[in-house]
Amino acid sequence: GIDVSALLKSTGFVTLDVGFVNTASTSSAITYIDGDAGILRYRGYPIEQLAEKSTFLEVSYLLMNGELPNEAQLRDFADKIRVHTLLQEEMRTFFSGFPRDAHPMAVLSSAVTALSTFYQDALDPLDDEQVDISAIRLMAKLPTIAAYAYKKSIGHPLPYPDNSLNYVENFLRLTFGLPTVNYDVDPKIAKILDMLFILHADHEQNCSTSTVRLVGSAQANLFASVSAGINALSGPLHGGANAAVLEMLEQIRKDGGDVNSFVTRVKNKEKGVKLMGFGHRVYKNYDPRAAIVKKAAQEMLSTLDTPDPLLEIAFQLEEIALNDDYFVSRKLYPNVDFYTGLIYKAMGFPTKMFTVLFALGRLPGWIAQWQEMMHDPATKIGRPRQIYTGSAVRDFVPMSQR
Ligand code: ACO
Repeated sequence: GIDVSALLKSTGFVTLDVGFVNTASTSSAITYIDGDAGILRYRGYPIEQLAEKSTFLEVSYLLMNGELPNEAQLRDFADKIRVHTLLQEEMRTFFSGFPRDAHPMAVLSSAVTALSTFYQDALDPLDDEQVDISAIRLMAKLPTIAAYAYKKSIGHPLPYPDNSLNYVENFLRLTFGLPTVNYDVDPKIAKILDMLFILHADHEQNCSTSTVRLVGSAQANLFASVSAGINALSGPLHGGANAAVLEMLEQIRKDGGDVNSFVTRVKNKEKGVKLMGFGHRVYKNYDPRAAIVKKAAQEMLSTLDTPDPLLEIAFQLEEIALNDDYFVSRKLYPNVDFYTGLIYKAMGFPTKMFTVLFALGRLPGWIAQWQEMMHDPATKIGRPRQIYTGSAVRDFVPMSQR
């Protein structure tokens, strides 16, 4: 029955925990992780079961509403999203304002902030109805924005969504379809991408989700909060790792494919050299998502006419790392990003789009966490303390005496 935070406040006691290694910022009923055992569950359901048996929209509903939907609820949710996939015509011109080689993550976060300018009558973070429609708009429009960011980067016209298709199929058609050529979405590819979105859908208080919550704790609207989350995700230590892994594998291949000498550079802690896609703040065991992605990568890449040499390099890296004391003693295992890039590449996505795909998958988690925070009576504005290490008080020195 002790109110620890009141006690700490009354004593003026401040804890320093750089990187929040041991400090919880919230309680949450959404996602459970046991990092030592390699367990991940959304709302109690094991990730393995959801990846095998569910769909991304069903999981999105589960995260946001706490329970799996029945048939009517899921149809209603999918229909609502379906009718909001279009962007306002003015939004379409937005994409021409960026340089051709703009990073799609920068376009994505800018466009999400821009979206809020079209819905100024529905931004109140404390109004559940307004939040619900904002959540639907975001779920519906993020794939359209993501596909347009890609289309602009290759100089193609922007197609309109096809609402006869399901969520992931529509996104694939928007991305890879051409107005001049019939484009049939490969249902096997759509299924795998849907499954990857499920694996990315939430991961409790990671960097981007904590960002979404922190921004929202100031009662900034959902678009502003999610846009901030996209920016956090873009970093190579977070969602940007999936692209960094592929760049690392490409570099090893270009340097002659000597995996052992690369691992030696990692172990020697050469500046900027890490085994990307390895290690995790919470998992001190094989990331359960990585195990599922590895299997999918093996299956998908075995169907290619020409095998991807990068897959072999990735297998070798993993094999060496799992048997090397540097990695074993630090409990460094593959994380979700280690094999995803190889699948995205085989699907035809350029490396720059990989983190965008992560963002599409993570969106329902951000929304669910933001909504949970808004409904939690314990919520306060996030405002960490600091330990001041600067100068003691001193007198101002006039310019002529410096
Ligand atoms: N390669 C080599 N060494 C590593 C790696 C790596 N990928 N990750 C951690 N280490 C080492 C550190 O150098 C450190 O060694 P030390 O004790 O000798 O100093 C030790 O392992 C502990 O690492 P920390 O950096 O303290 O671990 P932290 O929890 O702060 O970082 C992180 C976790 C950022 C994921 C880190 O493992 C990393 O940079 N990995 C590569 C990037 C990556 O794959 N990110 C994706 C994460 S998952 C996600 O966002 C979906």
